[in-house]
Order: sequence, then structure tokens, then C-alpha cells
Amino acid sequence: MNENLQNFLEKYYKKEESTIKTIEEKILKQKERENISLADYYFFQIKKEIKNILVNFYSEIDINEDDFNLEEPPFYIEGDFCFDCFLLAKKIKKLPKELSEEVAHLINEDKEKIFIEEAGVEGAYVNFKLKKQIYIKILSQIITLKERYGESNINKGQVILIDYSSPNIAKPIGLNHLPSTIIGQVLGNIYNETAAIVIRHNYLGDWGTNFGALMWAYIHWGDDKKIEENSVVELKNLYVRFFEEAEKDKNLLNEARELFNRLENGDLELLKIWEKFRDLSINDFKKVYKRLEVEFDIYLGESYFLAGVDKIIEEAIQKNIAIENKENNLVVVESLKNLPSFLLKKEDGSTLYLTRDLAALKKRFELFNLNLLLYVVGSEQSLHFQQLFALAEALGYLDQKNKKAEHISFGLILIEGKKMATRRGSLIEMNELLNEAVEKSKEIILVKNPEMTADKINEIAEKIGIGSVIYNSLKQSRLQSINFDWNKVLNFEAASAPYLQYSCVRIKSILKKFLDNQLNDEEEINFEKFLKDLENINFENEIELAVIKKMMFFPVVILRAQKENSPHYICTYLEELAQLFNKFYDSVSVIKTIDEKLKNSRILLIKAVLQVLEKGLNLLNIKIPEEM
Ligand code: ARG
Repeated sequence: MNENLQNFLEKYYKKEESTIKTIEEKILKQKERENISLADYYFFQIKKEIKNILVNFYSEIDINEDDFNLEEPPFYIEGDFCFDCFLLAKKIKKLPKELSEEVAHLINEDKEKIFIEEAGVEGAYVNFKLKKQIYIKILSQIITLKERYGESNINKGQVILIDYSSPNIAKPIGLNHLPSTIIGQVLGNIYNETAAIVIRHNYLGDWGTNFGALMWAYIHWGDDKKIEENSVVELKNLYVRFFEEAEKDKNLLNEARELFNRLENGDLELLKIWEKFRDLSINDFKKVYKRLEVEFDIYLGESYFLAGVDKIIEEAIQKNIAIENKENNLVVVESLKNLPSFLLKKEDGSTLYLTRDLAALKKRFELFNLNLLLYVVGSEQSLHFQQLFALAEALGYLDQKNKKAEHISFGLILIEGKKMATRRGSLIEMNELLNEAVEKSKEIILVKNPEMTADKINEIAEKIGIGSVIYNSLKQSRLQSINFDWNKVLNFEAASAPYLQYSCVRIKSILKKFLDNQLNDEEEINFEKFLKDLENINFENEIELAVIKKMMFFPVVILRAQKENSPHYICTYLEELAQLFNKFYDSVSVIKTIDEKLKNSRILLIKAVLQVLEKGLNLLNIKIPEEM
């Protein structure tokens, strides 16, 4: 790298030293964090009870908890829970159908069971009923753990860096960066919930030949006042204008290339302009992030990692992984894992996206001693990441055990079922979509609440509109396309953020009524004082038990979302829970329950549902309005 450039960047990035320190401190501090053990949750205790029964009987076979999976039974199987015997049957070398009979029998014979009432059989499935008082215990646990219910210690001590959003500077963030921004943020929340130490990194696209074009346009047509006011939009306009002009005058492209060369060779004047573009862009990006409540621990763009590029190219050549062509200066990686060959260095000596990414990968493992690096980037970059990972493995920067990297990709974005239209030569801006969602939410709220003040409507619409966009980006399995069909995005009746937000608002208003009916004038109810009332309660309605059973699965769902890097499991789960709650509330009266203890217990039940819904929405970065 050119010395002047190196000096400039070193100085410019001095300001990030303290940020890096802060992250290092956070890592140390979070290693000490106390977390709830997964084994404390009833789901896992029940599983353990079954496992112990199996281990006792089949003592010569190594049976563990991954050999069977507790599920809610499909409608044609009776019982509260079930599991299939397919895997177990392989291990034990019996037919699944025979084994299920045997296992059910073993469970029924066991005298020391704490959780299971009785077991039955349906084909290869064992199904069973829980003892009634276990439901009460589950409910107490949720109330006692409060908003911590759902967290676990499963990734304790693991340091995980998530590279997400990572837009290119000098233009507005477009819709194409929406999924990465949201999925990345939410995966961070989910990993944090399982005790991992999460570093949120915005790897800005802040280096590359396109800066030549932008510089050219800026020098010839730039208006600083306009750029101050509306930075990324103005910069994008300059960029677009450059290519319009370049159509007519091909020479411009050469001049732009020349400018980028000067930038790479440390031209101070140009670097100052670059610095301005970068700082203004981050400023604008942060406005969008703020609306989404997306946050980063650090912004280190491609430029930060330039310093490491020369060394790794050297290393790749020395290890015979890359070949240097002395005639034209190209450095090529020819055959890695049957992937197409690719360049590490261009003829003019400038670096490439992939080379910078390789330097960035290495540097981040070194800086933070990572266990895992996740790249949340669209599927169009799949080949890039295959090449990057293959190269990093060959160079020993990654290994399969404790230095892993993964490309978390996602599907296309569609608007009303169609591929995104481009406007004015660029993509739809993220902010435009958010505004549209908020405007549409306003209309709906106004119809529902004609009396509401404008301020209130604005406040609520922001939460509903933004929440809807977030939810819509997350609700389908990650590789499916994300469709913005406003009737569905803002459907208050199902499968949307407003549906879940509304369920929370509904429960809150019941709790408020309950509080108002209480004779004392406490501001907040201390729900734990009702736990006593639970002790001899008999929830006689199936739906009440169904709600509690559903809540028992919450920690398991979070775990699954983490393991598969798939937030949509949480969406589906919350929808199901909200549906059950609404069904419960349509058939069981809470406040009008005559029996005081039963009433208090039902209050605890809905309080627990609220807790789980709130926590789930929180994990999804969705805010809940006070009223709707
Ligand atoms: N700036 C890139 C883009 O907008 C995304 C960068 C993703 N992260 C990475 N390490 N390559 O397409």
C-alpha cells in the first residue's frame, strides 16, 4: 500500500481505537455474565426424565437427548406431547413401532416420574400427558423469571461477530440492504439471548473504483451546501449524472480511473473529500438505523482493512495458493475446491472486494479472538463467500472447529409480488419504504380511532409502520423472497406485526382494568404475590393448558432460531401463541371470574403471555404502542 495513503488512514482511524477497546472490555465483562441454564426449563427437564428411563433400561446403549425430540402432537395424535422413535429404533435395533410400545410401557411402569402422568402409543409415536401441577409450575417459572424467561447459557463465552447492513457509502441505503440490516440486527439479539458475546459490525463499502467517478462529478459539479443538507441523495445524484455524461464522453471514464489511482496513491486533497463523503454518509445512515433501532458496535469499512492486503497476497503467493504473473502483475487463485478462478490483485495493482474481505476476515479474528463470523448478505454474493471461505481455510485463517465463518443469505425483495422497480436510476430507498408504511398505518389508525390526536397517531403509526416492515422481512423462512404486499404487511388480523402488537395492547388493557378494580392504589401490580394462589388451582379449560404448553416451548424456539440462524421460527411461534391467547380470551372470562384465586391465576396466565409476546417482539426489534 502507498505510504501516504497508509499514513492518512492510520490517522483517520485513530478515533476507532477507543471503540475497539470498548468492545474488548465488553467481551471480558460479558464472559462473566450469569445466565439461566437451559436445563432449568421444563421442556428439558421432561426430556431428561424420559432419557433417564431409557438409559436405565437400555443400559448398554449410548442414548442422549438428541435421539428424540419432544413435539406438540399433530391433531390426530392424542396427548400433550409426543416424540417419534425412528432414531432411537436405529440405535436400539428394533422396529420403530415395536419400540414405541416398549417405551410407553417403560414410562408407565416407572414409579418415580415427576412430570409425566401417562404414556400412550400411536404407530411409531409415543405420546404422553403431563401431570396437571406441572402446568402450574411452568406458569410460575415464567412469572418468576420475568423478562428473562427464554434466555439460556448455551453459547456462553462464544464471541460472535455479525457483519450486517454494510451499505456502500455516498448513496442512500436502498431496499436491497433492508433484509441484511434487519436479519443481522435480530440475529444479534437472538445470539445475545443464548449468552453469546455479540459484536455488531457495519462493514461499509467505502473503497473501490467507483469513488473515481464520484470524485470527478464532485469536483466538476459538487455543491457543498446541498451536500451538507441532503448528503447521500446529493452524492447519488452526482454519481448518476456522471454516468449519464460518460455515455456522451467516454474520456470521462479514464479521467475517473485516474482520480481513483490518485486516491489510492494517497493524494491528500482527494482523501479529504473521501473522508467527508464517508462521515456524511454515516450520519445519514444513522438516521435510518435509528428508526429501526438498529445499532452497531463499530463501523469499520473496507478502507480500514486495506493495510492488511499486501501481506496476505504475499502469503498466498508464498504458500502456492495464488500465482503471480510477472508480466502483467495479476495475482490469481486458480483452483480451490473446484471454484472458478479469481483475482487477488489487478493489473494496475489496485485491490479487489474479495482481497479486502479476506484481509478483513483475518483482522477481525485477530482483533477479537472470534469463534464465529456471520456475514448477512444477499444470495447474489454466494460465490464470493464460497471463494473467500475456501481461500481463508487454505491460508489457515478459518478452521472447522473454533474459527468458523458462515454466509447467512436471504431471498429477493418483491413489491406487491414484483421485482423491485428502479427509480431515477437507483433502488428504492429504505427510508421511502418506511415512510410509506408509516403513512398507511396512520390511515388505518385514524379510521379505528377518529378521536385520537395527531401527535398520538404519529407516535403509534411509527411503531406499527416500522414494526410491520421489520416483521414482514423476517416472517418467511430466510431464503424465501420477501414480499411487500401492504394488505398483508398491515393486516391487523393475522401474521403481521400489528396483529401481535394488538394482542399485547389487549392484554395490557385487561391488566389495567384488573388493577383499577383492585382496592389498593398500587401503581404496578406485583404479580408474584399471586403465585400463592396458583398452588391449588385447577385450570379446567383445555385452552388454558394449551396456552401454558405453548409458552413452555419459548426457550426451545429461541434456541432453534439461533441454531439455524432463522428468526422466522420466532415469528411463527408468536403468531401461534397470540392466536391461542385470543381464543382463550374469547371463551374464558378473566376479570369476571368469581373465584378469587382462579381469577388471580388467570391474570397470571395472561401476564405470562404478555411477557412472552413482549420478549419475542423485543428480540425481533419491534416496539409495542401503548394503544392502537
Ligand atoms: N457493501 C456490500 C454491498 O453492499 C456488502 C458487504 C457485505 N460484507 C462483506 N464483508 N462483504 O453489497
